[in-house]
Amino acid sequence: MNIIFLGPPGAGKGTQSKILEERHGLVQISTGDMLRAEVARGSDVGNQAKALMVAGKLVPDALIIAMLKDRIAQPDCQKGFILDGFPRTLAQAEELDTMLAADGKSIDVVLFLDVDEEILADRISGRFTCAKCGQTYNEASNPPAKEGECDACGSHEFKRRADDKRETVVERLKEYRNLTAPILPFYEKTGRLRKVNGMLPAAEVTAEIEAALEDSG
Ligand code: AP5
Ligand code: ZN
Repeated sequence: MNIIFLGPPGAGKGTQSKILEERHGLVQISTGDMLRAEVARGSDVGNQAKALMVAGKLVPDALIIAMLKDRIAQPDCQKGFILDGFPRTLAQAEELDTMLAADGKSIDVVLFLDVDEEILADRISGRFTCAKCGQTYNEASNPPAKEGECDACGSHEFKRRADDKRETVVERLKEYRNLTAPILPFYEKTGRLRKVNGMLPAAEVTAEIEAALEDSG
Protein backbone atom coordinates (compact mmCIF):
# COMPACT_ATOMS: atom_id res chain seq x y z
CA MET A 1 0.00 0.00 0.00
CA ASN A 2 1.25 3.50 -0.85
CA ILE A 3 0.07 6.30 1.41
CA ILE A 4 0.46 10.08 1.51
CA PHE A 5 0.20 12.15 4.67
CA LEU A 6 -0.95 15.68 3.92
CA GLY A 7 -1.30 18.40 6.50
CA PRO A 8 0.16 21.65 7.78
CA PRO A 9 3.48 21.92 9.67
CA GLY A 10 3.07 20.33 13.11
CA ALA A 11 -0.10 18.40 12.18
CA GLY A 12 1.49 15.11 13.28
CA LYS A 13 2.56 13.67 9.89
CA GLY A 14 5.91 12.45 11.20
CA THR A 15 4.45 11.08 14.43
CA GLN A 16 1.72 9.10 12.66
CA SER A 17 3.95 7.96 9.76
CA LYS A 18 6.36 6.34 12.20
CA ILE A 19 3.51 4.49 13.92
CA LEU A 20 2.14 3.19 10.58
CA GLU A 21 5.63 2.25 9.44
CA GLU A 22 5.99 -0.12 12.39
CA ARG A 23 2.47 -1.49 12.32
CA HIS A 24 2.18 -2.09 8.60
CA GLY A 25 5.77 -2.75 7.54
CA LEU A 26 5.79 0.23 5.19
CA VAL A 27 8.71 2.60 4.65
CA GLN A 28 8.37 6.20 5.86
CA ILE A 29 9.79 8.69 3.40
CA SER A 30 10.14 12.13 4.97
CA THR A 31 11.42 14.66 2.45
CA GLY A 32 12.10 17.07 5.34
CA ASP A 33 14.34 14.47 7.08
CA MET A 34 16.07 13.71 3.78
CA LEU A 35 16.78 17.40 3.20
CA ARG A 36 18.03 17.88 6.78
CA ALA A 37 20.42 14.94 6.24
CA GLU A 38 21.71 16.60 3.03
CA VAL A 39 22.20 19.90 4.88
CA ALA A 40 24.11 18.09 7.65
CA ARG A 41 26.34 16.40 5.03
CA GLY A 42 26.98 19.72 3.29
CA SER A 43 26.06 18.20 -0.10
CA ASP A 44 25.12 20.30 -3.17
CA VAL A 45 21.44 19.57 -2.57
CA GLY A 46 21.85 20.51 1.11
CA ASN A 47 23.56 23.77 0.21
CA GLN A 48 20.77 24.67 -2.21
CA ALA A 49 18.07 23.85 0.35
CA LYS A 50 19.53 25.23 3.57
CA ALA A 51 18.69 28.95 3.30
CA LEU A 52 15.20 28.23 1.98
CA MET A 53 14.44 25.83 4.83
CA VAL A 54 15.69 28.24 7.49
CA ALA A 55 13.46 30.93 5.92
CA GLY A 56 10.44 28.57 6.02
CA LYS A 57 10.18 28.45 2.21
CA LEU A 58 9.65 25.36 0.07
CA VAL A 59 12.64 24.14 -1.91
CA PRO A 60 12.29 24.08 -5.75
CA ASP A 61 10.04 21.36 -7.24
CA ALA A 62 12.75 20.04 -9.59
CA LEU A 63 15.17 19.42 -6.72
CA ILE A 64 12.69 17.62 -4.48
CA ILE A 65 11.10 15.59 -7.30
CA ALA A 66 14.53 14.26 -8.39
CA MET A 67 15.32 13.31 -4.80
CA LEU A 68 11.99 11.56 -4.28
CA LYS A 69 12.20 9.70 -7.58
CA ASP A 70 15.55 8.18 -6.55
CA ARG A 71 14.21 7.24 -3.14
CA ILE A 72 11.07 5.42 -4.25
CA ALA A 73 13.09 3.41 -6.78
CA GLN A 74 15.04 1.78 -3.89
CA PRO A 75 14.30 -1.91 -3.15
CA ASP A 76 12.93 -1.22 0.37
CA CYS A 77 10.11 0.89 -1.11
CA GLN A 78 8.72 -1.83 -3.36
CA LYS A 79 6.43 -3.29 -0.66
CA GLY A 80 4.81 0.07 -0.03
CA PHE A 81 5.66 3.48 1.39
CA ILE A 82 4.33 6.40 3.39
CA LEU A 83 5.08 9.85 2.02
CA ASP A 84 5.52 12.39 4.82
CA GLY A 85 5.96 15.93 3.50
CA PHE A 86 5.60 15.18 -0.21
CA PRO A 87 3.85 16.33 -2.38
CA ARG A 88 3.73 19.98 -1.29
CA THR A 89 2.70 21.62 -4.59
CA LEU A 90 0.30 20.70 -7.37
CA ALA A 91 3.27 20.17 -9.71
CA GLN A 92 4.74 17.65 -7.25
CA ALA A 93 1.39 15.84 -6.93
CA GLU A 94 0.97 15.55 -10.71
CA GLU A 95 4.56 14.44 -11.22
CA LEU A 96 4.19 11.80 -8.50
CA ASP A 97 1.19 10.22 -10.25
CA THR A 98 3.09 10.25 -13.55
CA MET A 99 6.24 8.65 -12.12
CA LEU A 100 4.29 5.95 -10.28
CA ALA A 101 2.10 5.16 -13.30
CA ALA A 102 5.23 4.62 -15.42
CA ASP A 103 6.05 1.80 -12.98
CA GLY A 104 2.51 0.41 -12.82
CA LYS A 105 2.03 1.85 -9.31
CA SER A 106 -0.27 4.38 -7.69
CA ILE A 107 -1.18 6.13 -4.45
CA ASP A 108 -3.91 4.18 -2.64
CA VAL A 109 -4.93 6.72 -0.04
CA VAL A 110 -4.18 10.31 0.98
CA LEU A 111 -4.62 10.96 4.70
CA PHE A 112 -5.26 14.62 5.46
CA LEU A 113 -4.48 15.52 9.09
CA ASP A 114 -6.80 18.40 9.87
CA VAL A 115 -5.55 20.68 12.68
CA ASP A 116 -6.57 24.29 13.45
CA GLU A 117 -3.83 26.82 12.85
CA GLU A 118 -3.71 28.22 16.38
CA ILE A 119 -2.76 24.77 17.74
CA LEU A 120 0.12 24.27 15.29
CA ALA A 121 2.53 26.96 16.49
CA ASP A 122 2.33 25.69 20.09
CA ARG A 123 2.90 22.11 19.00
CA ILE A 124 5.93 23.04 16.95
CA SER A 125 7.50 25.24 19.63
CA GLY A 126 7.16 22.35 22.11
CA ARG A 127 8.76 19.79 19.78
CA PHE A 128 12.18 18.24 20.41
CA THR A 129 13.81 15.06 19.15
CA CYS A 130 16.36 12.56 20.40
CA ALA A 131 19.76 13.50 18.94
CA LYS A 132 20.71 9.82 18.69
CA CYS A 133 17.65 7.96 17.32
CA GLY A 134 15.38 10.79 16.09
CA GLN A 135 12.37 9.92 18.28
CA THR A 136 10.02 12.94 18.43
CA TYR A 137 8.70 14.36 21.70
CA ASN A 138 6.60 17.29 22.83
CA GLU A 139 6.97 19.28 26.05
CA ALA A 140 3.21 19.44 26.57
CA SER A 141 1.65 16.40 24.91
CA ASN A 142 4.37 13.78 24.66
CA PRO A 143 7.36 14.10 27.03
CA PRO A 144 9.72 11.14 27.60
CA ALA A 145 8.52 8.80 30.39
CA LYS A 146 11.69 9.60 32.36
CA GLU A 147 12.64 13.28 32.21
CA GLY A 148 15.73 13.90 30.08
CA GLU A 149 16.00 10.30 28.82
CA CYS A 150 14.86 9.00 25.42
CA ASP A 151 12.25 6.22 25.77
CA ALA A 152 13.49 4.51 22.63
CA CYS A 153 17.28 4.47 23.07
CA GLY A 154 18.10 5.86 26.54
CA SER A 155 20.10 8.79 25.16
CA HIS A 156 20.22 12.03 27.18
CA GLU A 157 20.84 14.31 24.21
CA PHE A 158 18.00 16.12 22.51
CA LYS A 159 17.80 18.71 19.75
CA ARG A 160 15.43 21.21 18.18
CA ARG A 161 14.96 22.07 14.51
CA ALA A 162 16.44 25.30 13.11
CA ASP A 163 13.11 26.11 11.41
CA ASP A 164 10.96 25.67 14.53
CA LYS A 165 11.37 29.30 15.65
CA ARG A 166 8.06 31.20 15.84
CA GLU A 167 8.87 33.65 13.00
CA THR A 168 9.85 30.77 10.67
CA VAL A 169 6.72 28.85 11.57
CA VAL A 170 4.63 31.83 10.37
CA GLU A 171 6.36 31.55 6.96
CA ARG A 172 5.94 27.76 6.84
CA LEU A 173 2.21 28.16 7.50
CA LYS A 174 1.98 30.75 4.70
CA GLU A 175 3.69 28.38 2.27
CA TYR A 176 1.30 25.64 3.33
CA ARG A 177 -1.77 27.84 2.79
CA ASN A 178 -0.62 29.18 -0.59
CA LEU A 179 1.02 26.16 -2.17
CA THR A 180 0.09 22.93 -0.37
CA ALA A 181 -3.55 23.31 0.70
CA PRO A 182 -4.57 23.76 -2.99
CA ILE A 183 -3.56 20.11 -3.59
CA LEU A 184 -6.47 18.82 -1.52
CA PRO A 185 -9.08 19.13 -4.33
CA PHE A 186 -6.71 17.23 -6.67
CA TYR A 187 -6.94 14.16 -4.42
CA GLU A 188 -10.57 14.69 -3.49
CA LYS A 189 -11.55 14.65 -7.18
CA THR A 190 -9.98 11.23 -7.64
CA GLY A 191 -11.64 9.82 -4.49
CA ARG A 192 -8.36 9.21 -2.66
CA LEU A 193 -8.65 11.81 0.12
CA ARG A 194 -9.53 10.78 3.69
CA LYS A 195 -9.86 13.52 6.30
CA VAL A 196 -8.68 12.69 9.84
CA ASN A 197 -9.16 14.83 12.95
CA GLY A 198 -5.55 15.58 13.90
CA MET A 199 -6.54 17.53 17.02
CA LEU A 200 -7.33 14.42 19.05
CA PRO A 201 -4.67 12.83 21.29
CA ALA A 202 -2.11 10.98 19.13
CA ALA A 203 -3.43 7.47 19.95
CA GLU A 204 -6.96 8.49 18.91
CA VAL A 205 -5.62 10.00 15.68
CA THR A 206 -3.96 6.63 14.97
CA ALA A 207 -7.31 4.87 15.54
CA GLU A 208 -9.04 7.23 13.05
CA ILE A 209 -6.27 6.57 10.54
CA GLU A 210 -6.61 2.80 10.90
CA ALA A 211 -10.37 3.12 10.32
CA ALA A 212 -9.75 5.27 7.22
CA LEU A 213 -7.27 2.71 5.86
CA GLU A 214 -9.72 -0.12 6.36
CA ASP A 215 -12.42 1.89 4.71
CA SER A 216 -10.32 2.50 1.63
CA GLY A 217 -9.59 -1.20 1.30
P1 AP5 B 1 9.12 19.00 7.00
O1 AP5 B 1 10.22 18.40 7.78
O2 AP5 B 1 8.29 18.15 6.13
O3 AP5 B 1 8.23 19.83 8.02
P2 AP5 B 1 6.64 20.18 8.08
O4 AP5 B 1 5.79 19.74 6.99
O5 AP5 B 1 6.64 21.63 8.35
O6 AP5 B 1 6.11 19.28 9.16
P3 AP5 B 1 6.65 19.05 10.59
O7 AP5 B 1 7.76 18.05 10.55
O8 AP5 B 1 6.97 20.37 11.25
O9 AP5 B 1 5.37 18.51 11.34
P4 AP5 B 1 4.67 17.09 11.39
O10 AP5 B 1 3.35 17.21 10.73
O11 AP5 B 1 5.57 15.99 10.94
O12 AP5 B 1 4.42 17.02 12.95
P5 AP5 B 1 5.09 16.08 14.09
O13 AP5 B 1 4.60 14.69 13.98
O14 AP5 B 1 6.56 16.32 14.17
O15 AP5 B 1 9.70 20.16 6.06
C1 AP5 B 1 10.68 21.07 6.50
C2 AP5 B 1 11.13 21.95 5.33
O16 AP5 B 1 11.74 21.14 4.30
C3 AP5 B 1 10.01 22.72 4.59
O17 AP5 B 1 9.71 23.94 5.23
C4 AP5 B 1 10.67 22.93 3.21
O18 AP5 B 1 11.62 23.96 3.25
C5 AP5 B 1 11.41 21.62 2.99
N1 AP5 B 1 10.60 20.59 2.30
C6 AP5 B 1 10.28 19.35 2.78
N2 AP5 B 1 9.53 18.68 1.89
C7 AP5 B 1 9.39 19.49 0.81
C8 AP5 B 1 8.70 19.37 -0.43
N3 AP5 B 1 8.00 18.26 -0.75
N4 AP5 B 1 8.74 20.42 -1.29
C9 AP5 B 1 9.43 21.55 -1.00
N5 AP5 B 1 10.08 21.74 0.17
C10 AP5 B 1 10.06 20.72 1.07
O19 AP5 B 1 4.37 16.74 15.38
C11 AP5 B 1 4.65 18.07 15.79
C12 AP5 B 1 4.68 18.12 17.34
O20 AP5 B 1 3.37 17.85 17.85
C13 AP5 B 1 5.60 17.06 18.00
O21 AP5 B 1 6.20 17.61 19.14
C14 AP5 B 1 4.62 15.91 18.36
O22 AP5 B 1 5.10 15.16 19.48
C15 AP5 B 1 3.34 16.69 18.67
N6 AP5 B 1 2.12 15.95 18.31
C16 AP5 B 1 1.94 15.10 17.25
N7 AP5 B 1 0.67 14.64 17.22
C17 AP5 B 1 0.03 15.21 18.29
C18 AP5 B 1 -1.31 15.12 18.80
N8 AP5 B 1 -2.25 14.38 18.18
N9 AP5 B 1 -1.63 15.85 19.91
C19 AP5 B 1 -0.68 16.63 20.52
N10 AP5 B 1 0.60 16.73 20.10
C20 AP5 B 1 0.95 16.04 18.99
ZN1 ZN C 1 16.57 8.07 21.26
